Amino acid sequence: MRRNLITLAVIGLLVIGYMGWQVGGFSGGHISQAASTVTLAASDQSTSSSSVEAERPFSWYIVRSSGFLAYFALFIIVAFGLIMSGKIATKRIHRFTITQLHCWLSWTMLFLVAVHMIFLLFDKFIPFTIPQLLIPFLATFKPANVAFGIVAFYLLVAVVVSTRYMKWLPKVYWRLIHQSSFVAFAFVSLHGYFTGTDSHTIWAKLLYGIAGGIVVFLIGFRIFGKVNR
Ligand code: HEM
Repeated sequence: MRRNLITLAVIGLLVIGYMGWQVGGFSGGHISQAASTVTLAASDQSTSSSSVEAERPFSWYIVRSSGFLAYFALFIIVAFGLIMSGKIATKRIHRFTITQLHCWLSWTMLFLVAVHMIFLLFDKFIPFTIPQLLIPFLATFKPANVAFGIVAFYLLVAVVVSTRYMKWLPKVYWRLIHQSSFVAFAFVSLHGYFTGTDSHTIWAKLLYGIAGGIVVFLIGFRIFGKVNR
């Protein structure tokens, strides 16, 4: 278990670092644009966008790349959950494999969200304090959009932890908590789209659109598929 966690942490950091590098490379041009927005929140008002370009704040790349990786992991978790409960999983898509992946990805996703939040504490351009990370509407940067992320974070922690200890919970409560992951997915989609620097790019729009579309389709399949069965 401990060895798995260490491997996971190392792989996670490598992937985040690589993605951060890529995101930086893809949208280097956006740095100056975002910097001009964010310098309002920065304590040092004199920071010019050219010095931001030169500094290329590492924490900012990590926040963005871990945010996208966490979002993608959450999408896969929700989609696989719906595939399992909607009985789409056949022998070809082995249920055991899907269940294992569903569990493993849930912890990975929480790890990525933790990275996403922790690196905001080190960000010079969107400065966050610990209370601002944990209490909705305290943030000075896009408070309502960030609040969607914070509420989603609490819901996701409740979903993952309640699944770990489901033996001790009445099934009806566990199911109710588990279903709040749909709300969390919707909140995180709104959070990412309306908070993120990359939302105007084609690839980000495609990611939010395709992920949202597939989840809505699978929810529809689960509801109407059951009715017609
Ligand atoms: C619950 C899980 C969360 C997920 C999956 C998530 C995901 C994302 C995604 C995909 C972006 C867009 C990044 C971009 O366009 O570059 C983003 C941006 C952001 N998130 Fe989250 N987020 C989560 C929770 C939080 C929380 C709890 C906070 C803080 C309290 C937070 C703060 C931010 C900020 C400040 C940005 C803007 C970063 C930037 O683009 O400059 N997020 N998040």
